[in-house]
Amino acid sequence: MAEIVIGIGTSHSPQLSIRAKDWDHLLKKDQTDPRLDYQGLLAKAKPGLAAELTTEKFHQRDEACLKAIKTLGEALQKANADVVVVFGDDQQEQFHDDNMPMFAIYHGKGLPVVKHNNLRPAAWKNAEEQGWADTAPEYETASDLANHLILSLTDAEFDIARCNKLRAEIGVGHAFSFLYRRILPGTKLPMVPVMVNTYYPPNQPTPKRCYAFGQAVRRAIESWKSDKRVALMASGGLSHVVIDEEIDAMCTSLFRELLTYMMEDPRNITFCIHLMFCAKNIERMGDHATNIAETVHYMVEGKPIAETRPKGDTTAFAKTALS
Ligand SMILES: [Fe+2]
Repeated sequence: MAEIVIGIGTSHSPQLSIRAKDWDHLLKKDQTDPRLDYQGLLAKAKPGLAAELTTEKFHQRDEACLKAIKTLGEALQKANADVVVVFGDDQQEQFHDDNMPMFAIYHGKGLPVVKHNNLRPAAWKNAEEQGWADTAPEYETASDLANHLILSLTDAEFDIARCNKLRAEIGVGHAFSFLYRRILPGTKLPMVPVMVNTYYPPNQPTPKRCYAFGQAVRRAIESWKSDKRVALMASGGLSHVVIDEEIDAMCTSLFRELLTYMMEDPRNITFCIHLMFCAKNIERMGDHATNIAETVHYMVEGKPIAETRPKGDTTAFAKTALS
């Protein structure tokens, strides 16, 4: 039977291909992107954010990203896989609203990678392309594994879509070509692309459905009558940490305000206590959301988040003075 030898996850943000010196192309894109209210977003920006937007910090982050991509590529190389199954978003590349599957597997022969397409504005697209490795016009697919996955997932009651052609002018989507362009330049690893509708409502799969889908894919691969070594790669946004210190701070400030009302007039105590329970429960929801985000991070990265989570409320901590 086939063996899963490694699982990796990566973002494929343009900033992973564009060097820090050119990141202002993305600023200009956002400022002129008709889908964004740039001034409105700017007004809502977190205080202190400007201190993070320095040339020095950009270069530090760029270096850290380059190092992480290198580590990922080396790990994949070392795993010595025969085939890679890549899960990624299709950003209206193969599919549009006229036919938008939730999950689709490409089982055609040959995987075209197109260097230039006209999907994005020129300035940052050019900067991004400069960061891509040279790619072959076409890579191998593992259509035998793709067909096995389609059959197995259908048996497992997933209504999986399939396609055996990709749009010629686009080639395989950006989530998938990222393997050849950035993670492992020069590799000839055959791929099975699994396209997920991560964004376009109303038929995006829920996280629960994605989790069940992943488990079914694993069972399918492990039941594949082959001696092939299979790698798994997730390509998309990875880290969406909920920062809940603002909720903590709101809870603390409300507690102080209610305390004042209670001290002013004991008849306020009953409703103030009820309001304090409401505020505490909302604060607990923030904690739960953070716990979920941290669990997702652990599942993907295999290690806890290194940074200490900022706390907006320190009233629960005992303060001592040591002499
Ligand atoms: Fe994407």
